[in-house]
Amino acid sequence: MEIVILPDDEAVARTAADIVQASLENDSPVLGLATGSTPLGTYSELIRRHCEAGLSFARAQAFTLDEYLGLPAEHPESYRSVIRREFTDSVDLPAHAVHSLDGQAPDPEAEAARYEAAIAGAGGVDVQILGIGTDGHIGFNEPMSSLASRTRIKTLTEQTRRDNARFFPTPEDVPRHVLTQGLGTIREARHILLIGLGEGKASAIAAAVEGPLAAACPASSLQLHPHTTVLVDEGAASRLEHREYYQHALEHKPQWQAY
Ligand code: F6R
Repeated sequence: MEIVILPDDEAVARTAADIVQASLENDSPVLGLATGSTPLGTYSELIRRHCEAGLSFARAQAFTLDEYLGLPAEHPESYRSVIRREFTDSVDLPAHAVHSLDGQAPDPEAEAARYEAAIAGAGGVDVQILGIGTDGHIGFNEPMSSLASRTRIKTLTEQTRRDNARFFPTPEDVPRHVLTQGLGTIREARHILLIGLGEGKASAIAAAVEGPLAAACPASSLQLHPHTTVLVDEGAASRLEHREYYQHALEHKPQWQAY
């Protein structure tokens, strides 16, 4: 893991956008896209580069991480709708190349298997953007998820439902069940960008980066991944014990070494 502590969310967004932009030079780039608040700055920065500097996503495909079970695709809070509204409709990524799980699939297990096959068929994910839940979840892999898990149904914790209530008319409207890529699925991405913003994520980031590898903090499973970059602002970094070392390593990063 490389831990990159940046002064604020704008610096995080610029660095994340640099990494995504570099991956777009691949022949058939495949992006893994998180929803939620955390990546919004990164998506805005990518949209800005598309509009002002011609950054093109025309050859890219994208896969979202997860979906609420039971929400119709056209529901404004389905992650299929959210990713289009917040990002992909504002760049030249073809609509048919934006893949999502179907939250209303009659057979959710078959839908999960279809999605795994679609990711593999695209050649796997080049860069996976991840936020982190206050309980350490990535995707919707809640604590005690199997570290080897694949795409499947999960039940949200009440904490996650409370955290996501801001997107729904009332807390009761937050669905209880989801489909999510598994921890094993996510770790097959070639480069993972874990983004943490604000003090509210400080404990989860500390557990993910410096805590034991444990199902109690699903994001800690990224410790097993060969190429994870953790981008955090000062707030999210505030509980890291080894922050001086991370900054020292960053300041002495060899010029030839990219993220
Ligand atoms: C969303 C997702 C979740 C969020 C996490 C943090 O696709 O996979 O893991 O990244 O719940 O959400 P925010 O960014 O809203 O704090």
